Amino acid sequence: MRRESPGRSFPESVTRALFLIPFLFVPLSLSAAEYGPFCQWHRDPTTSMAIHWIATEEKEGERGEWKLGAAGFGYGDDDDQTVLKGMRKKYRSVYIRRPYEVPANAPEGAELTIGIRYDDAFILYLDGKEALRKGVEGAGADISKVKKHEAEVWEYFKLGPAVAGHKGVIAIEGHNESLDSSDFTLRPRIDYRANRKLHPVVREGAKWAYLGGGTPRAGWTRIEGVKGEGAEAPRYQLALRPKTGGGWTFANLRDRKFGTTEHRVFSADLGDLEPGTRYLFKIARWGAPIGSWEFETAPATFEEGMTFVTGGDMYGTRAWMDAMNRRAGQEDPLFALLGGDLAYANGTKGNRWLDWVDSWHKCAVAPDGRLIPMIVVIGNHEVKGYKFRPTDAPGRAQAPFYFSLFLGQEEGAQLTVDFGNYLSVVGIDSGHTTNIAAQTQWLARILGNRLGIPRQFVCYHRPAWGAGVKDDANDIRREWSPLFEQFKVDCVFENDHHIYKRTHPIVGGKRNDRDGVLYLGDGAWGVKIRSVPKDWKKRTYLAEARSVNHLIKVTMTSGQFVYEAMTADGDIFDETMRSVRRGAK
Ligand SMILES: [Fe+2]
Repeated sequence: MRRESPGRSFPESVTRALFLIPFLFVPLSLSAAEYGPFCQWHRDPTTSMAIHWIATEEKEGERGEWKLGAAGFGYGDDDDQTVLKGMRKKYRSVYIRRPYEVPANAPEGAELTIGIRYDDAFILYLDGKEALRKGVEGAGADISKVKKHEAEVWEYFKLGPAVAGHKGVIAIEGHNESLDSSDFTLRPRIDYRANRKLHPVVREGAKWAYLGGGTPRAGWTRIEGVKGEGAEAPRYQLALRPKTGGGWTFANLRDRKFGTTEHRVFSADLGDLEPGTRYLFKIARWGAPIGSWEFETAPATFEEGMTFVTGGDMYGTRAWMDAMNRRAGQEDPLFALLGGDLAYANGTKGNRWLDWVDSWHKCAVAPDGRLIPMIVVIGNHEVKGYKFRPTDAPGRAQAPFYFSLFLGQEEGAQLTVDFGNYLSVVGIDSGHTTNIAAQTQWLARILGNRLGIPRQFVCYHRPAWGAGVKDDANDIRREWSPLFEQFKVDCVFENDHHIYKRTHPIVGGKRNDRDGVLYLGDGAWGVKIRSVPKDWKKRTYLAEARSVNHLIKVTMTSGQFVYEAMTADGDIFDETMRSVRRGAK
């Protein structure tokens, strides 16, 4: 994760107290626990964006769970509303927290106070900062010198100015003098004092989130402890707003286990966004910000000179992948279409996915800092056994990382991403988790329903029209190529062979410059390249074949497409142009 740049000013219009408080402080410098975020498009890019990150397993594990209870907390003495039955001889510390708001009518000069009955010691944090401590040294699990103290009377302490309308978080850790003490009490109330009177801020008996028998995670004093009915603060929050300004809104997050690992994938599947708009988003972990980034939605209508990049077979070495990802970012494309064999994890090596995400997050960044969104397509190395199985594909359970990381894969790896009504991108599974013939009907329907869309591309992993590096996917030639021809697909992107190839426009494998379909590939983003068979020119459908790492950049104008093949250094070594054939406006 990149960190917040110092000196960035945060807006006043934060819609919830939670984000306001931590953003007054320097972000926590905890060890990197996240990979990403990165952006994916799986539905209309003019109004949506999915943001994902992988959170590694939390080692500091919280034994207890936050619950909601009325103050005071404790046992013995019959003076507790929330009785901690399991505390004696089991644990000696209790943590409580809740939001507070100073009433708007508090006069100037008002002072925040705590009234408390406590046994034996406590530390109070106001808005994440220690404001008061009684009878204990250290904090949390590292306390010492707890002095005995009886909760016989209410004792009052000043906490500082009470600013009318201020919202914040108050957190208290209470400690017992010994594990088998006969009683424990933590019973606070918060008031502001003005004109020698106390006015309630948090009443006696109010509900607090509390944690007994566990150690809270770092940042717990900043967390809005009571949110709705739940007492646990969320592990992550994501807020966004248009870069030009306006209020922050909080995204709904979903999370799931990442493949066979103990890591979790977190996602915000943002919808109802404004087209062609730059958004700023930030993520907080346990209430503390870990970074902010930018993305941009696709324009509502076609714009002259829009570009995207495509390629597959990405992770041979980290250096090769980083270099090509950096090139992808430098070219400043609207998006990247990634055609399978992404992390080469083979359905088993989850750590390779962490690298892959990390590389994209760090390298595939536009010159102005925008994250480049991806549209993903599955390859054989996403799947256990990593074989090409066009007629006996093993099913999605064999690609546990791919299907848990990306959204839009509910029905399988095939997907369609429609950019308004001006561009359609179709991804399809070339025999890795779904048989090729099983998708033909779906493909015919998808292509047939989009005849009015002026630009259309298809991407899959295993080439039908290769240069002889491996066998051609004859199932694809038979099942899908006739549909590409019938429905005038502009270009089909193939991968997997670790070379560069470009076909002529072809119909049934024969050159046909007017009605033919162009196939470009073949998957050499960041892998070790293979040599092109010397006799490749015997394949008369081929126009070019070379052994070189590359990506393909597509530039779209109202009348034509320009396809450029370039190295990680940006050298363009092959180029072709094609007219728009689908009746574009
Ligand atoms: Fe492959």
